[in-house]
Formats: sequence, structure tokens, C-alpha cells
Amino acid sequence: MPPVLSSTRFTDLVGCPLPLQLAAMGGVGTTALAEAVATAGGLGMVPSSETPASGACGSTFLMPFAPPLDVVRETAMAVRVAEFFYGDPDRRMVEAAHRGGALAGWQVGSAGEASAAEEAGCDYVVAQGIEAGGHVRGTQPLAEVVPAVLAAVRIPVVAAGGVATSRRVAEVIAMGADAVRVGTRFVTSPESRAHTDYVVSLLEASSEDTVLTDWFSEGWPGAPHRVLRRALDSARETGWRQTVPPYRGVEHTTSDMAMYAGMGVGDIIDSLPAAEVVADLVRLL
Ligand SMILES: Cc1cc2nc3c(=O)[nH]c(=O)nc-3n(C[C@H](O)[C@H](O)[C@H](O)COP(=O)(O)O)c2cc1C
Repeated sequence: MPPVLSSTRFTDLVGCPLPLQLAAMGGVGTTALAEAVATAGGLGMVPSSETPASGACGSTFLMPFAPPLDVVRETAMAVRVAEFFYGDPDRRMVEAAHRGGALAGWQVGSAGEASAAEEAGCDYVVAQGIEAGGHVRGTQPLAEVVPAVLAAVRIPVVAAGGVATSRRVAEVIAMGADAVRVGTRFVTSPESRAHTDYVVSLLEASSEDTVLTDWFSEGWPGAPHRVLRRALDSARETGWRQTVPPYRGVEHTTSDMAMYAGMGVGDIIDSLPAAEVVADLVRLL
């Protein structure tokens, strides 16, 4: 059983025991990963292309590829939260999520965007710091964007970006965040679909080994993302620009693919099952 912690506005809202959310991760996020996090007490998430897990699970839509509203509503019928990222908060999307019976969340990069999400009817926001792995909406470090967003909105605020240790989780909760969202650390769990080469590269990397770039832009131009520097260096040599990260079974060489990584990557030293990662991350709360 997960440890019993004092509740936060986030745990009360979504109905999971721990103030911890798995990041939805395109290309490597799986139902099994979300299931493991939910069973361990957090909120599991899947990208909208994957089947949601049972229990406390949400699904994320990337706005540049958002489906019609009735698809959002249908997806929302099978999840606890429907979440949106990388686009201006849109009331019609939020209403579609609510019509399906789910809570609605928006991952934002600024206080202004958070206010717009609240005005659009969202039930919570995710404040993303520039430390985050994957596509990065914000321009401020977590320590700046979280207080700014907390001051701007009344709904619960989840903090995302570069969080990979129990110490950092405790610091971010102490900042006032209602929950912490973690991506990169879960990429290394066996339940993810990440290729072994990607996992090994993450385990070997130090905190200085990530870079913010707009290189991997095929089909999604003008959207900055944080990756391992060695993958970017290789891609510049080969000209590879696809956005999909290295997944198990991919036929392309992995070394020049988009190895998304947050700035907490230097703290990730082993590949643990997701349930053990959850237990480790919350142990100082
Ligand atoms: C491999 C990878 C894929 C990601 N894909 C998505 C996605 O499809 N949708 C989304 O909302 N966020 C995505 N993100 C960003 C996360 O939501 C989150 O902001 C980020 O993982 C937090 O930083 P961290 O990786 O340092 O924990 C992705 C992140 C990673 C590492």
C-alpha cells in the first residue's frame, strides 16, 4: 500500500493518495507505466494515442495535433483527467473534457497562460519550468514559474521540470505546489517503451548534458524541446529531425534520435520499476 500522506488540493481533486503525477510521454509512455504509477498511489498519465490505465489515470492531448471535440469527449469518458499542452488554453477543449466526465488540466509555461487556463474552465494547471525534458513551453526556472502561477490562479498547481529526486520533490512541495509531475525519471523504468540505448544514455548523462533546441522539428516546427546534447550532435551530422524518441523496436539508428531529457537527468543512476520510483520520490514527504 502507498504511504498515507497529508492530502493536497491535487490529491483531493483527482482522488489519488500521493501528490505525484506521471508526465504523459509521447513515444515512450505506456498503459503499463501509467498503471504502475496509479497502483503505487500517484496519477498515471498516457499520451492520447495510448489506452488509459484503470484507476487514477489521465490522457494528454498535444494541441498542435488535437483531434475533433467529440474525440476529446469520448476519451474523457474513460479517464479521470483530460489534459492539454502546447497551445493557447481553449474553452471548447475544456468543455469537451467536462462533457465526457473528466477533470480538465492544462500544462502551461507562464502565469499568463495559467490565468488563461483557469478562465477557460480548467480544474488544475501544470506549471512547467525550463528544466523540463521533452517539449518546453516555459522560459523560467521552476523556482520562478511556480510561485508566479500560484499567485495568478486559485486552482491547484502541479510543478514539472527537472524533478528526479525525493529531495527535489520535497523542495517543490515546500514551494507551495499541490503536486509534482515527473517525466524523465520514469523513462528509465522498464514499463516505459524507451529503447535500451536511450535508457543507458540517460543513466550515463550528467546534469550539464541536456540542451534546449528546436532541431527535432519534422511535423512540429517552432517548438523548443530539451534533449541529450549527444543525440543533438549526432542528428546535426546525419540530418535526422523526426520528433519521436528512441523506442523499443525502432528500425532507425538510435544515436541521432530525439533523446528527450530534463535537467534532473544527472540524478538518475538506475533503472527501477515505476512503483519503486514512486516510493523513492515521495519518501521525504
Ligand atoms: C520523453 C518525453 C516525452 C514527453 N512527451 C510529452 C507529451 O506527449 N505531452 C506532454 O504534455 N508532455 C510531454 N513531455 C513533457 C512532460 O509533460 C513534462 O513537462 C516533463 O517531463 C517534466 O520534466 P522532467 O522530464 O524533467 O521530469 C514529455 C517529456 C519527456 C521526457
